[in-house]
Amino acid sequence: MDLHISLDGRGDRTDRIYRQLRDAILDGRLRAGERVPPSRELARRLSVARNTVAAAYDRLVGDGFLEGRAGAGTFVAFRPARPAQRRAPGGALRPARRWAQLLDEPPPAEPARFDLRAGHPDPALFPLATWRRLLGRSLAARADYGDPAGAPELRAAIARHAGLSRSVRAAPDDVLVTHGAQQALDLVARVLVEPGAVVAVEEPGYRPARRLFAAHGARVVGVPVDAEGIVVGALPRTARLVYVTPSHQYPLGIAMSLHRRSALLAWAEETGAAVVEDDYDSEFRFSDRPLEPLQSLDRAGRVIYVGSFSKTLLPALRLGFLVAPATLRPALRAAKRLTDWHGDPAAQLALAALLDEGRLARHLRAVTRVYAARHELLTAAARGPLAGWFTPVPSSAGLHLTFRAVPGLPVDAIVARLRAAEVAVEPLASFYAEPPPRPDPGLVVGYGSIPTANLPEAILRIEAACRNA
Ligand SMILES: Cc1ncc(COP(=O)(O)O)c(C=O)c1O
Repeated sequence: MDLHISLDGRGDRTDRIYRQLRDAILDGRLRAGERVPPSRELARRLSVARNTVAAAYDRLVGDGFLEGRAGAGTFVAFRPARPAQRRAPGGALRPARRWAQLLDEPPPAEPARFDLRAGHPDPALFPLATWRRLLGRSLAARADYGDPAGAPELRAAIARHAGLSRSVRAAPDDVLVTHGAQQALDLVARVLVEPGAVVAVEEPGYRPARRLFAAHGARVVGVPVDAEGIVVGALPRTARLVYVTPSHQYPLGIAMSLHRRSALLAWAEETGAAVVEDDYDSEFRFSDRPLEPLQSLDRAGRVIYVGSFSKTLLPALRLGFLVAPATLRPALRAAKRLTDWHGDPAAQLALAALLDEGRLARHLRAVTRVYAARHELLTAAARGPLAGWFTPVPSSAGLHLTFRAVPGLPVDAIVARLRAAEVAVEPLASFYAEPPPRPDPGLVVGYGSIPTANLPEAILRIEAACRNA
């Protein structure tokens, strides 16, 4: 028996030994038939007189918890019908209060035959054979703890890639590799958000970002989005951080206008707030040229640029990055080191090779053609069979389109009807944290993971659900 008995503090020692052994028997830590140490040995371990232990044993024997067996020692004699719950003196452990509002995460939806949820790329397009080869080559390359900012090869490759494809101004030292955009947001919140600080997010917007800032104790305020992007005039002056998706607003899909971009940067400069630019899926563009990211327009060091490989490759890889102003880099690096030391070097080196060999660029050109065809099918449906019910929010990038519904269309009932028809799609209302002042009925239709051949049938099912609503 290796039971810990504590005699710290005051009180009758025999009584405390008695109670701790009794409780251990009642809650099942000491089981019937187990031998307890001889009183002499336990007395030595506890640095008390042997009589102190012997008296506790006598009481336990008298109560029927222990029994002495001649020549063999003292044994547990009592078997509780059901071990009692151990109660901590301060009550059961509870998470910090702010977590109470974060426990309502809906369970992941069952996979549907026609999956039109936003934010999921097509796993069938992932260059698996190439990745397997590159990963195999990288596995043995790093054995010890690495640089918290990520493998130098990948940081250099990302700086080049983001510079060429998105005009992000970054040297390799400016890049910090993360486990997806979500960890980038987490690190930013750790180093910039004091508990109680105001963080502004887009409304409607990206729920995991809003919840993450709340988890860090921020007071999260939703700010409306109009046809040009977040309404800068509605930003609270006290906000310390603003989270935006300027290239492809999530979920509406609009691009923030140049005018709005410069207004946001001017506002940040004036108030001293940080701007987090989440550029999660703008690699997929089907017509117009992308606008310059906020990061490359920023002259005052206020913007933290966040990128992700979840859409261009796979969400399961958990690979993303951030580019931060020099003033934040040491703290972000320290936060990364303290939370997970560094990422997975093998995956990082494989990605570096994919970028350096030009394979990611080639992959992007190929998959953009596939997604463009799906985007075109959906916009054609909005002009055709779905025209009586929906108007798409103009958007020429990314992996989803938002359809605004005509007033009065019972969107929730249609979504439920579609679920029964094996079509998974999310209502626009679910992207709002608060009910909007004017109802904004609609659907957010993802075309990332549905095979192109299945899309016409999914559109027919949406049409049927609307007709029968
Ligand atoms: C707005 C937004 N940001 C970021 C991401 C990607 O997050 P991660 O890189 O953590 O997978 C998504 C994915 O859906 C998204 O919609």
